[in-house]
Amino acid sequence: MRDPDLPTTMAAWHQHRYGGPDVVEPARLPVPVPRPTDLLVRVRACGIHAGDARLMRGDPYLVRLAFGIRRPRTAVRGMDVAGTVVAVGSGVTALSPGDEVVAEIGVGGGLAEYAIIPAARAVARPDHVPAQLAAALPVSGGTAVQALDAASVGSGSRVLVIGAAGGFGTFAVQLAAQRGADVWALAGERALDLVTGLGAAHTFDYRQVQPGSPELPAASFDAVIDIAGTAPLSTLRALLRDGGTVVLVSGNGGPVLGPMERMLRAVFVSRRRRRIRSLAATAKPEILTQLLELTGQSGIHPVIEQTYPFAAARDALAHVDAGHAVGKVVVTVE
Ligand SMILES: NC(=O)c1ccc[n+]([C@@H]2O[C@H](COP(=O)([O-])OP(=O)(O)OC[C@H]3O[C@@H](n4cnc5c(N)ncnc54)[C@H](OP(=O)(O)O)[C@@H]3O)[C@@H](O)[C@H]2O)c1
Repeated sequence: MRDPDLPTTMAAWHQHRYGGPDVVEPARLPVPVPRPTDLLVRVRACGIHAGDARLMRGDPYLVRLAFGIRRPRTAVRGMDVAGTVVAVGSGVTALSPGDEVVAEIGVGGGLAEYAIIPAARAVARPDHVPAQLAAALPVSGGTAVQALDAASVGSGSRVLVIGAAGGFGTFAVQLAAQRGADVWALAGERALDLVTGLGAAHTFDYRQVQPGSPELPAASFDAVIDIAGTAPLSTLRALLRDGGTVVLVSGNGGPVLGPMERMLRAVFVSRRRRRIRSLAATAKPEILTQLLELTGQSGIHPVIEQTYPFAAARDALAHVDAGHAVGKVVVTVE
């Protein structure tokens, strides 16, 4: 079903080559046509995260094998989308035009007036979660849940979140606190009060306190969620109690392999009773459904540092690309 009033072209932010935010340009592109298992949505809001910036740059080079050697095959960035269904593929029965949905859509396509969502990934957006908040959830919130699950974080666990103030970390802290964990957090100084408000019992400025500092007692953590990716793996492992787990979400590395280098090294540093696990989070609609239910009231509150209008989407990418976001950055596409 397709609305006969749908336009044939749309405004979008498009990149012809890999590079910094300057390579992303406004363009008019054809409105995509959904395949039988897809939805076409009118985008209302698009969340931006560090992965969008990495794909924009084709960083590390390894990702170009999958996403395009010379230029990205998907030329529109934006993976986290909240929008209104305007057309459905012939095989879609569960959703119809007019439904409000949210999804992690894959490698991109969200920074446009219309985007394709595989129907299997779409989750109905409840009325109590505005589109801007919903678009902040999928990748960062979903990765946070998967990281906490990977380390079996639960009531009474002592967990250290390294990189607690970013798009991902602000979810990790809230969700761990909600599970009843004793949350310790490393973040930039300007964000320490925020991170405390999200539920961290102990917060430290990462420029003063690092893994290995006496403020973070050795052999005392059940889980270390490492988002910053800078500490030596053996130092992270030394923070663990017997039976504890380090989860690597990201990591510094060279231009070719990037975070993969550290994740490969982790195989050799991990021990049976003090494990180091590398996380490759995937889109999980069931987790997104839980996050939508938790959002608001006494549940979780996505931290949105800044909302950009569609006309300034390149600035939103530049903001995240600079690596100093506190919480999430969202583009509205009204
Ligand atoms: N493995 C997976 O499946 C997966 C999934 C999603 C994302 N990721 C990765 O996760 C990483 C984090 O994403 P994000 O969106 O949370 O990043 P982000 O929002 O860009 O994080 C920026 C924040 O991190 C702080 N920070 C920088 N260095 C730090 C350090 N050494 N210790 C503590 N805090 C530090 C910054 O503080 P200052 O401004 O004070 O410097 C800033 O507040 C990205 O590399 C992304 O690619 C991985």
